[in-house]
Amino acid sequence: MTKKETPIIILNYKTYAESTGKNAVTLSQYVQEASDETGVNMAIAPQAVDLYPIIEAVDIPVYSQHMDNITPGGHTGSTLPEALKETGITGTLINHSEQRLTLADIDAIVEKSKQLNLTSVLCTNNVKTSAAAASFNPDYIAIEPPELIGTGIPVSKASPEVVEKTVEEIHKINNNIPVLCGAGISTGEDMKAALELGAEGVLLASGIIKADDQKQALIDLVSLI
Ligand code: G3P
Repeated sequence: MTKKETPIIILNYKTYAESTGKNAVTLSQYVQEASDETGVNMAIAPQAVDLYPIIEAVDIPVYSQHMDNITPGGHTGSTLPEALKETGITGTLINHSEQRLTLADIDAIVEKSKQLNLTSVLCTNNVKTSAAAASFNPDYIAIEPPELIGTGIPVSKASPEVVEKTVEEIHKINNNIPVLCGAGISTGEDMKAALELGAEGVLLASGIIKADDQKQALIDLVSLI
């Protein structure tokens, strides 16, 4: 089945036990199967340490959760953009709520992603920061109100105005940046509501990762679109 570019689902593995190590590889296989069976574009963002085995095992877009604004040299404990590129990733999340960056770092990392031909997904927390983020010209902006992350209360239903206004403000600055939304998304209804508000996909985690049947949860997520 040919997959459309959007809507896109990006599953952020964070550091949940259910999406770490061997579980991360198994989950990635489920994501690939769900994507192939539904024809919906699904990507994943595992921990850096799990990238190599996952990229060997599946053929779906794989993102890193973060990259550091560093160049090769003395930066113990950091993650070098060039090293991430070498794993075969498609792109990277930038400035996730759980890994906030300075404006200067965001600017540098978006630019570095372009140089390395990596897709940049710049995360934001509200309408104002989303408008500011548009000036960096990333490939995607993902709005995630931090107070809803991990709650199971979907942003697309609890704060529809935030998603709608974010899309509007970003598109005033750059009409070509697709907007994703995330936080509390887990069901087909949540996903459908997100698309109706102008989002072109979702960034999500716990609703799928903690589900009893992760693959079925992904299939249900896209069942109404
Ligand atoms: O990056 C996705 C995320 O922060 C949302 O998490 O668990 O609310 O889907 P969750």
